[in-house]
Amino acid sequence: MKAAVAVLLFLSLFRLSFSLYRKHFFVNTFKTWEAARTYCREYHDDLSTVNKEEAQLLSANPGVTYTYFWIGLHISPNNPGQWIWSGDEDEEIDNWDIDEPNTYTEKCVVVKKSNSKLHNAMCSKTRPFYCMQVFEPILVHQNKTWDEALDHCRQHYTDLASLRSQMIMAEAINNTITSQTAYVWTGLRFMAGHWYWVSGHNLQYKAWSVEGELQCPARDLRCGALDRKTFIWRPNNCEDKLNFLCLKKL
Ligand SMILES: *[C@@H]1O[C@H](CO)[C@@H](O)[C@H](O)[C@H]1NC(C)=O
Ligand SMILES: *[C@@H]1O[C@H](CO)[C@@H](O)[C@H](O)[C@H]1NC(C)=O
Repeated sequence: MKAAVAVLLFLSLFRLSFSLYRKHFFVNTFKTWEAARTYCREYHDDLSTVNKEEAQLLSANPGVTYTYFWIGLHISPNNPGQWIWSGDEDEEIDNWDIDEPNTYTEKCVVVKKSNSKLHNAMCSKTRPFYCMQVFEPILVHQNKTWDEALDHCRQHYTDLASLRSQMIMAEAINNTITSQTAYVWTGLRFMAGHWYWVSGHNLQYKAWSVEGELQCPARDLRCGALDRKTFIWRPNNCEDKLNFLCLKKL
């Protein structure tokens, strides 16, 4: 659907013992909660599961111009009184607005844009909504140059992994335990004067060695690898053949 606006927000969470990436897409079309869920399940994974931090990021999207938007939270059909995520995640629900949830006839949940808090609402109301796509990092046990690794990830999964937060780093490090090479490729690349993630994100969280980010790496050291022993990023020769971390759709 053309009206869908992709919002590129990658976030991580811990779900029991492992973490996942969620990418959220704002759908600027008014639908009932059920119709929104059907849409999300067809075009993505599900209606969005959001923690407090994500609720803030999704609300801050300037493309959201309405007071409320649907997320994947609703009353359990089997256990009225229990709020559950459509995607079945056990993400904590600690973000209700004051005096919410407030009536048991309102069985679905919106986020109020102005304060990023949860409100329960009639499921038959029509609201714009967020869908999510869920990913997990996966280590590929093949030795490839950075360019080959990028091609492989894009062909078989979605992309080389961006290690954009401490939580994602922790998960990535966990995934490199079985690596056959001391370093593994990430989606980090130096071009036109700066380092960036191939996914298009800027570097905010950084895990360079103590010498810090190389402002002008040598011509042959312009691809970023993760050192699986010291857990830091290093500028590496792009032609080295290493194992690599892809992002896989769940
Ligand atoms: C890493 O893996 C171990 C066992 O597979 C698990 O217990 C631990 O919680 C994982 N840590 C992260 C950050 O995913
Ligand atoms: C990749 O390289 C490592 C280190 O050089 C080697 O031990 C491993 O067997 C290689 N893996 C494959 C699949 O060729």
